Amino acid sequence: MNARMLPDTPAPSRRHALLTLRDISKTFGTVKALDGLGVSIAPGEFVTVVGPSGCGKSTLFNIVAGLEEPDAGGQIEFLGKSCKARDLLGQVSFMPQRDLLLPWRTVIDNAILAVEMEGARRSDARRHAFEMLPEFGLTGFESQYPHQLSGGMRQRVALMRTFMFNRDLMLLDEPFGALDALTRSMMQRWLLDVWQKHRRTILFITHDVDEALFLGDRVLVMSARPGHVKLEQAVELPRPRRADIVTSPEFIALKRLLLEAIEEESMKSFMSTQSKVHA
Ligand SMILES: Nc1ncnc2c1ncn2[C@@H]1O[C@H](COP(=O)(O)OP(=O)(O)OP(=O)(O)O)[C@@H](O)[C@H]1O
Ligand SMILES: [Mg+2]
Repeated sequence: MNARMLPDTPAPSRRHALLTLRDISKTFGTVKALDGLGVSIAPGEFVTVVGPSGCGKSTLFNIVAGLEEPDAGGQIEFLGKSCKARDLLGQVSFMPQRDLLLPWRTVIDNAILAVEMEGARRSDARRHAFEMLPEFGLTGFESQYPHQLSGGMRQRVALMRTFMFNRDLMLLDEPFGALDALTRSMMQRWLLDVWQKHRRTILFITHDVDEALFLGDRVLVMSARPGHVKLEQAVELPRPRRADIVTSPEFIALKRLLLEAIEEESMKSFMSTQSKVHA
């Protein structure tokens, strides 16, 4: 368990990193969302990201998904090669903060959307999606529309779409944020099973420290805006993780450490909002 304070230094596995970001900043008009963010992600890692609201987590994902270009001066390396953010478009699978299911498409046709857009034949994609239904707990629901599904099921359809778009790196932006605690904890265990079977690399944003620790090999705590990686915490809890691991002394010690770091950043973020309101 080694916490490391990181101004902008990438993580240990630099030599074999799947993705390395150095000194990434992003400005929107007068708002500086990210400032000097550095991180390195190893193949197969499950890395969770926490930080105050508005600190630039989704902005970071938009950059890694190739949807936003960072300010000049930073560096991105993917699979050992230096690249622009736009080169990553289509190279990573991305589940945005909102599930973005199309209401007029059935479960199957929502699940195949990304691969269909990529040029896969609809009949082949549907066949593949049918095979994946049991694993995603959606057997028998293939012809339903999103409004006929529970919140947890909708999230599983969105996740199935992200898994079907088969890329080494998956970005999941608060996928379970809207779920009740019980469904959420079931989904977390299910995601770990699926992750272990498919051996993908996952970057996962959450507001929930328990979730970040339960899922992650490492937790990144982001600073208040402008965001950078303030703390990187290795989570050396054994896998597979059982639900009751959250009551272990190791888990609680890690949680205390993370909460302190997040609390400090959330206060900064709150104070800066207040000073703007009262200015
Ligand atoms: N396309 C954009 N145009 C202008 N400003 C933006 C844009 N995207 C993000 N921002 C600003 O950048 C900052 C960071 O936003 P971002 O959505 O990345 O935060 P976040 O950490 O994901 O927040 P939350 O936890 O609430 O989802 C915010 O101040 C936001 O208003
Ligand atoms: Mg966000």
